[in-house]
Amino acid sequence: MNAKIILDTDPGIDDAMAILFAEANPNVELVALTTVFGNTEIDISTRNALYLKQRFGFKCDVAKGASKPLKRPPVGASIAVHGENGFGNVDMKEPTISADPRAAHQYIIDTVKASPNEITLVAVGPLTNLALALIEAPEIRGLVKEVVIMGGAFGTHEHTGNVTPFAEANVHDDPHAADVVFTADWPVTVIGLDVTHETFFSTDYIDTLRDTCGEVGEFMWDISRFYLDFYKSRMGVNGCFVHDPSAIAYVINPSLFTLREGPIRVVCDGPAEGLTLQKYKQTQHKTDEWADKKPQQVAVAVNDQGVLDLYLDSMTQYGNR
Ligand code: RIB
Ligand code: CA
Repeated sequence: MNAKIILDTDPGIDDAMAILFAEANPNVELVALTTVFGNTEIDISTRNALYLKQRFGFKCDVAKGASKPLKRPPVGASIAVHGENGFGNVDMKEPTISADPRAAHQYIIDTVKASPNEITLVAVGPLTNLALALIEAPEIRGLVKEVVIMGGAFGTHEHTGNVTPFAEANVHDDPHAADVVFTADWPVTVIGLDVTHETFFSTDYIDTLRDTCGEVGEFMWDISRFYLDFYKSRMGVNGCFVHDPSAIAYVINPSLFTLREGPIRVVCDGPAEGLTLQKYKQTQHKTDEWADKKPQQVAVAVNDQGVLDLYLDSMTQYGNR
């Protein structure tokens, strides 16, 4: 099966690893990269998406998206994690190609309407573009094949948050947008910290990518130096968690993940802003803000070695094509 995806992204080092994974795997057709603020400011996210397209010869479109959250004050770019330029401050030529003239959310609406029930929306940054598309054209709810999100943290395996004790970065960057996306009547699968914090690229694994995947492996090794320094200094580990590539792994092989069903809400203010809560028990309550919302799927377990094997195989094939 060929999954036709629009990848909404804030590249970002792990975003780049996910983008290259989507381009590399023969079971994925990368229709477009739509960019959003998050790891970087929007102009840098978009520049980086165009850079990857030009350097590696992608056929996909690039469309520039939201520069700020729907309602909350912007948190600011994750410079400490991804560097000033979003790619670990490696030297980069400025791309000489341009983005699609449409805003990302309009591009999403137009493309989903033009190919009903064919497009999988994969979002690995704040969910602002998807929320804007839903608000502008709610009819797309019945026209997407699936929505796959890297984001959230639901407490399984004691994974509750990364940017606060109880919030994951993509949701925390725009909790209102996340609540709009999770509560809409369309099929959402959430790949959160519950499984991405169970999947780990060791420094040796990334060395192997460099040594066996040609130019693309060398690029991923180069941009990951800054990222791995962050993980070493802040967490004392030799490697990094596999966030955004895990969403692509799900698209390619859903059987690598175990899912739990139930409606999801997001805390949108106060000390727990960005907290994602899935109601998976069939209990009745006098007041229940989950009761009338569509049950969605949350990944609660992963065959992490399977993800690593799939990634290395895809990138090795691509790097030596
Ligand atoms: O919490 C991890 C997520 O936040 C990833 O998408 C990473 O790229 C950052 O955007
Ligand atoms: Ca991201």
